[in-house]
Amino acid sequence: MELIATCTFGLEKLVRNELKNLGLWIASVEDGKITFEADEEGLIKANLCSRMASRIQLKVGEFDATTFDQLFDAVSEFKWENCIEVSDRFPVQATSAKSLLHSEPAIQSIVKKAVVKRLQRVYATDVLPENSDALYQITVKCIKDHFTVSIDTSGEALHKRGYRSIANAAPMKETLAAAMINLSDWDQARTLIDPFCGSGTIPIEAALIAKKMAAGLNREFAFETWPWIPQDKIKQVRDELRAAQLADVMPKIFAFDINPDTIEIAKENARKAGVDDIIVFKCVDFNNLDFRNFKNCTFVTNPPYGERLEEEAYVTKMYQTLGEKFRQTKDCSLFLITSRQDFPRLFGRLEDKNRKLFNGNLKCYLYEYR
Ligand SMILES: C[S@@+](CC[C@H](N)C(=O)[O-])C[C@H]1O[C@@H](n2cnc3c(N)ncnc32)[C@H](O)[C@@H]1O
Repeated sequence: MELIATCTFGLEKLVRNELKNLGLWIASVEDGKITFEADEEGLIKANLCSRMASRIQLKVGEFDATTFDQLFDAVSEFKWENCIEVSDRFPVQATSAKSLLHSEPAIQSIVKKAVVKRLQRVYATDVLPENSDALYQITVKCIKDHFTVSIDTSGEALHKRGYRSIANAAPMKETLAAAMINLSDWDQARTLIDPFCGSGTIPIEAALIAKKMAAGLNREFAFETWPWIPQDKIKQVRDELRAAQLADVMPKIFAFDINPDTIEIAKENARKAGVDDIIVFKCVDFNNLDFRNFKNCTFVTNPPYGERLEEEAYVTKMYQTLGEKFRQTKDCSLFLITSRQDFPRLFGRLEDKNRKLFNGNLKCYLYEYR
């Protein structure tokens, strides 16, 4: 099968590497999209194990079209009956950019009609009740008149690990937190510190990595409703991943935040994720932390950005103080994401590296100091 892992812009190489490490064959890497080959087991593993992909999609096909007739004909050619049975559900979602066919509702409607017509013909029936448990979300993406049609295998986006039912005001996606840890120099010989932990996403993702706990073990996926993906294979993969977890690792992970309610939320999320035993949470203002005590630590953090006018002065001062305090540490590194391009100036040191990453729709930079 040809599968597509979608991801946030900037994470393509990381996702490619994690798919490679699962033994999957990579066909191509494009912006936000990694195409790879996999059998059923690979499809299951990619969903359960990827920490940084947004979704795993089953590629149906691609073609160029500039008229609705061309779109209808191309979609009718695909052998939808190979996976969709007569009573399965198959909603369609389309996006279009820089294309002659730009109306997304119209594209959705034409694609739906084409699939319906094909299935009605193949199954020799006028009635497709769409009332089974099996859900095949058809995804149509059109860029510059080129259509890619796929079926979503994930269901909810993969950043939803199942441990965060409560969030603070500005949580980051788990996929981005995992990427920041991956891009950092943290290993278990070093202490990981998030001084602005919010709902705990960064420390929790670090703890999951340390314990080798697969990202998707505690959630369900759309492919689990598909009869042609064997349930015993899914169970086997889940059992193997559980058996591979490490019970007795003791990484040093510290999570701080000034807000006592937020710290309680973070603790509860860590408990749900099964990693509360290896994270030390503390409600503390970073201004009151003595950074001279920090040696051999990796700070991975997502502080406030001061996007709202009333926060700007507070955040400006915070970044200046952080710079002063960081200079008191010994053998420490910092991996900090913010939308503020003036961060290095305020921090008082030019970064060793920065990468453009998106936190939701907001263009940000991951500043690295080693
Ligand atoms: C952008 S949020 C972090 C979000 C977090 N990454 C998550 O996924 O939930 C920034 C956090 O910094 C905390 N904060 C603000 N000022 C602080 C200070 N002086 N010391 C420690 N934490 C502070 C806020 O309470 C907030 O939870």
